[in-house]
Amino acid sequence: MNQETAKILWNKPAGASVYRIGLTCGNEYGQADPGQFVTLRLPKESSPLLRRPFSIHRLIKNNGELKGIEILYKAVGEFTRKLSHTAAGERIDMLGPLGKGFTVSAAIKSAALVAGGIGVAPMVFLADRLIHEGISPTQTIVCLGGRSADDVLCDTDFQTMALKTRITTENGSIGEKGLVTDALSNWLKDHQPDMIYACGPMPMLGAVSAIAKQKNMPCEVSIETIMACGVGACLGCAIKDTQHAEGYGHVCIDGPVFNAARLNLAGR
Ligand SMILES: Cc1cc2nc3c(=O)[nH]c(=O)nc-3n(C[C@H](O)[C@H](O)[C@H](O)COP(=O)(O)OP(=O)(O)OC[C@H]3O[C@@H](n4cnc5c(N)ncnc54)[C@H](O)[C@@H]3O)c2cc1C
Ligand code: FES
Repeated sequence: MNQETAKILWNKPAGASVYRIGLTCGNEYGQADPGQFVTLRLPKESSPLLRRPFSIHRLIKNNGELKGIEILYKAVGEFTRKLSHTAAGERIDMLGPLGKGFTVSAAIKSAALVAGGIGVAPMVFLADRLIHEGISPTQTIVCLGGRSADDVLCDTDFQTMALKTRITTENGSIGEKGLVTDALSNWLKDHQPDMIYACGPMPMLGAVSAIAKQKNMPCEVSIETIMACGVGACLGCAIKDTQHAEGYGHVCIDGPVFNAARLNLAGR
């Protein structure tokens, strides 16, 4: 973990209220795992006081050399709106890489990646790493879901990696009409992946966990909670965790990625 003043390489629109920001970073990000996150603060702003967490979306490399990280973010409130007004060349305070990421190993040959809305942010980095470790693209699916077409992001990123995607929207404006978990359930009728990975709103994670439990399949979920310190010092991100001695874990240091079974999310 390192605190640094990162330089903004770019900050450009990537959809409705969604942006991609490129940031310089230290060499330790070369060892970062997909699912790990950073916390950001704007040095010239006194508000908001607390740093805000964002997943690493992608490592930026040039001829194999690490140049920075990219973050995909949605402008939802004070910090993210201010962030959307920053420009290349400006500086930002960055702490990371933080937390525990997704399990990636050569033993995982097939997977289902399930993302709801901006929950897709860590999935591009994850897909890239899984491919690097030798996953079979034909035995892998990326299920992207959202309320409407505006919430479906990064489809072309996965297609560029030769991964198949299934898109669902609640209003049917793009892809199949329904929930992202419908697409997952349909795909699982004919496939037995080594792992299900999910990131998105809590009800979606509960539904994915229930499917994995019912089919007895390993599943990892990335949890989003409001965070204050991001480093295990404030108890602001506590979550019920059956494997934690005190019964509660910290999303910021025990997660944000957890084995779904240990959180009992199914049915939430
Ligand atoms: C581990 C982790 C990784 C994250 N990765 C990303 C990412 O890659 N890209 C991204 O866009 N966001 C990500 N988030 C969420 C991001 O941290 C929040 O959107 C951000 O903190 C909002 O700050 P704000 O000041 O703009 O909004 P605030 O003014 O704090 O909040 C504005 C509104 O958004 C709601 N809100 C705030 N945080 C969240 C949240 N976590 N989930 C749902 N609603 C929320 C608030 O309840 C409020 O209604 C992540 C969160 C966590 C915990
Ligand atoms: S955010 Fe402070 S303990 Fe997790």
